[in-house]
Amino acid sequence: MPARTWLLVAPLALLLALSGAPAAYGQGTPAAQNAPGTCIPAGGIPKKDSYLIGMSQANKGEPWRQAMNDQIAAAAAAHPELQVVFADAAQNNAKQVADVENFLQQGIDLLIISPNEAAPLTDVVAKACAQGVPVIVLDRKVNGDQFTMWIGADNQAIGKQAGEYAAKYCADKNLNPCNIIEIRGLEGSTPAKERGDGFREGIASNPNAKIIASQNADWLREKAIPVSQAMFQANPDVNVVYAHNDPMAEAAIISAQNAGLNLDDLLFIGIDALPTPYGGIRSVLDGRIDVTHVYPTGGAQAIDYATQILEQGKTPPAEVVLETEEVTPANAQQLLDKYSGGAAATPSS
Ligand code: FRU
Repeated sequence: MPARTWLLVAPLALLLALSGAPAAYGQGTPAAQNAPGTCIPAGGIPKKDSYLIGMSQANKGEPWRQAMNDQIAAAAAAHPELQVVFADAAQNNAKQVADVENFLQQGIDLLIISPNEAAPLTDVVAKACAQGVPVIVLDRKVNGDQFTMWIGADNQAIGKQAGEYAAKYCADKNLNPCNIIEIRGLEGSTPAKERGDGFREGIASNPNAKIIASQNADWLREKAIPVSQAMFQANPDVNVVYAHNDPMAEAAIISAQNAGLNLDDLLFIGIDALPTPYGGIRSVLDGRIDVTHVYPTGGAQAIDYATQILEQGKTPPAEVVLETEEVTPANAQQLLDKYSGGAAATPSS
């Protein structure tokens, strides 16, 4: 972990549960000062009565991204001096570039962005930075360092934890070989690579655990249905399904059922663990996904740091790493209560 990274510990779950938004996961703790190139103008941010924040979302159609927007809106609601405008790029890099350009024309005071893919969004983020607009990058990364700060969880570590769980499952069941299929996120988005690499590290301790097929479904449940269907047809002797997010894991469960496979003989691993009625924690409780991982959106933290940058003249840490947790049947109820404040703890219909 870089020296300037702080680990986040104090949950904002209660605040957000009370506000009706899905709970935020970990709250940030500050790190060291940014190097020059923080996107903050030399004379500091001019004092104003109100500030305009542009939030550029990669794709609002996914539940986890809607949760991020909801957390940002809920946190900003506690700051009447902040106005947040949202843009939805609908998974389109060119649209997201145009959204940011549009925000710059509107004269935003700060940009929050969760980029669809890293490379195509790097230049426009650097452009905002060069114009003295502080930029908070959330979850997926851009390349280089032309932004104020990044907030997100450690996807490599999550992938590794998932791989270790799979390796142990294979060993406990004496499976040799232990056949794994992987359903990956959008290739140009940084979590897909990190979750894939981390998983490979995690299974390395068990030579019997083998990834026999790996396909991309771009993070999308709809896309993961045909992709997983084809994978099960080609590999009926599968033992473990590692999906880079919960919606793709749920899609694989449907395909496995349709392919006539016995779900009890399969381990399904996901990531996100939203504390909502159709989210991953409920799925674990209901016996569908076997293990998932809390992937905090960082929405509440982004607003917290935005106020520090805009109103308190602070230079934030360059990187803030959010806490993650493994969700298994043993702790799922406890985590649902923790993150939903009880609101989502009713059975799904
Ligand atoms: C939503 C999502 C989440 C995933 C994250 C990775 O777009 O796919 O499910 O955890 O993005 O960036």
